[in-house]
Amino acid sequence: MHRRGVVYQWLTEQFFHLLILALLSSLFVDVLDGACAEVDSDTEAVAGKGFKLGCISCKRRSEVEGSATVEWYFRARGEADFVHIYSYNEGGGSVEHDHFMDRVDWNGSKRSMDIQDASIYLLNVTFNDSGTYRCFFNRILSYANDFEYNTVVSKVVHLTVVAKATRGTASIVSEVMMYVSIIGLQVWLLIEMIYCYRKIAAAGEEALREAANAEYLAIASESKDNMAGVQVGE
Ligand SMILES: *[C@@H]1O[C@H](CO)[C@@H](O)[C@H](O)[C@H]1NC(C)=O
Ligand SMILES: *[C@@H]1O[C@H](CO)[C@@H](O)[C@H](O)[C@H]1NC(C)=O
Ligand SMILES: *[C@@H]1O[C@H](CO)[C@@H](O)[C@H](O)[C@H]1NC(C)=O
Repeated sequence: MHRRGVVYQWLTEQFFHLLILALLSSLFVDVLDGACAEVDSDTEAVAGKGFKLGCISCKRRSEVEGSATVEWYFRARGEADFVHIYSYNEGGGSVEHDHFMDRVDWNGSKRSMDIQDASIYLLNVTFNDSGTYRCFFNRILSYANDFEYNTVVSKVVHLTVVAKATRGTASIVSEVMMYVSIIGLQVWLLIEMIYCYRKIAAAGEEALREAANAEYLAIASESKDNMAGVQVGE
């Protein structure tokens, strides 16, 4: 019974270690090995504020050397055609359309033409910026045997401009989930503590009872010895 309790406690500790490790590694894994994850862009901008238009295209095989140039296109709500608004290449970024003049900054991969993140930052968003954005990666992959391979990847972002920020259902759901899991863990911890406390208390009582028993037996046998002694002496 006691042994099982110890094993149980050990398992609980190991579980907590794993939990903490998992949390830490999920926080740091991106930083440590520069892993690329194709996170979707936000789609709701607030008028007058800045907005990051996300566009990420990971290389299938990260060890293959690549270099890419990026083009961004925009189709305003109600318009039929896309217009070229921005390009990024060896020479840096350049805005290609008057509507976006001095309002676009590069937020993508820096210091390398091996671009996997082609995000741009829109300054002072207006309602006229609502519409569809499209980014194109023109990527050249260079394999070891001088073999080059061209790919074009494109992503679409449907942008809505609102007067005030509204919270998406996903964010509300994840916040609720966070509280549920925090409270759940706390309750579990509490139950765990009560369980352990009761275990220890029971073990203590057991020990006391055993001690009392031993004492009683000792006294009993002592008095028997004494009686025997008296009898022998007679
Ligand atoms: C994106 O660009 C904006 C404007 O230059 C800057 O304020 C912001 O910090 C940048 N964000 C990232 C993640 O590079
Ligand atoms: C953006 O807005 C800020 C503050 O309203 C203003 O100072 C800045 O000149 C604006 N920039 C552009 C490019 O319109
Ligand atoms: C938005 O577009 C309309 C119609 O093209 C134009 O009249 C208006 O000045 C634009 N507003 C801004 C802030 O660019």
